[in-house]
Amino acid sequence: MKKMIIMGASSGIGLEMSELLLSRGMRLGLAARHTETLRELSKKYPGQVEYESIDVTHRDAPAKLNTLIERLGGLDIYFHVSGIGISNPELDPNKEAEVITTNAGGFVRMVAAAYDYFKQSKHAGQIAAVTSVAGTKGIGDLAAYSASKKCASTYLTALEQLAHKEGVDIAFTDIRPGWIRTPLLSADAEYMMEMKPEEVVPLMLKSIVRRQRVAVIDKRYAALVALWRCLPDSVWVRMNVPMTKKGETF
Ligand SMILES: NC(=O)c1ccc[n+]([C@@H]2O[C@H](COP(=O)([O-])OP(=O)(O)OC[C@H]3O[C@@H](n4cnc5c(N)ncnc54)[C@H](OP(=O)(O)O)[C@@H]3O)[C@@H](O)[C@H]2O)c1
Repeated sequence: MKKMIIMGASSGIGLEMSELLLSRGMRLGLAARHTETLRELSKKYPGQVEYESIDVTHRDAPAKLNTLIERLGGLDIYFHVSGIGISNPELDPNKEAEVITTNAGGFVRMVAAAYDYFKQSKHAGQIAAVTSVAGTKGIGDLAAYSASKKCASTYLTALEQLAHKEGVDIAFTDIRPGWIRTPLLSADAEYMMEMKPEEVVPLMLKSIVRRQRVAVIDKRYAALVALWRCLPDSVWVRMNVPMTKKGETF
């Protein structure tokens, strides 16, 4: 059975994916900054869980990932879910930078470490990540968030090219969902075409198992993204995209 690490397993999408895979008997390495939920999962599924407190914004995170891989006894799939979302139309510079630090800086740090593991071990593997439909266009209220997700998607493409050049056997899967009702969203706001974690996580899993290169979740969002990709930027920048309430953490 394949060995998988889920980075960002303590909440939302990562937690839902962990529960689904553990209930099917899979052995997982789970990580996030907060480990209470991960500890509970290890008690609920004895012998199936290794876990580690990892902050992707810290320089020691790659070393901790390698320790987790060792404890798991190897790695087949690295699944990067960790991320934060802040709606920030006021462009508070510190909030903007915080989003980039976690979603771009932390993403690059951890995905590079997973790439290096597969390269050094000469073990065929897969790197899957949750980015966002927001990375396909710049959304005004979510400027740093959109840019961070574009960075993540572009980084996967660049690493895929590098893997071809270096003969490293890695499949890359870029999962781009629309709004999902998790703690990332503001509890009292309503979002366009909101989805439930228990609906989207099986779709995400299917895209990983099929080694899909890019998966937009769900079909309605795939249609929307296809449509807005056709819009020239001169039109896009004049559009009001009503996705979040002003100033709220989404
Ligand atoms: N919900 C949506 O509508 C939506 C839509 C598109 C894309 N996404 C993306 O999906 C991913 C998961 O989001 P979610 O909706 O499941 O949100 P969530 O419930 O808030 O979960 C976020 C996860 O990321 C982890 N995390 C945050 N900062 C971290 C750090 N510095 N180091 C390590 N882990 C960190 C959190 O764990 P700790 O706090 O314990 O560290 C948590 O496990 C994010 O990348 C998000 O951008 C979400």
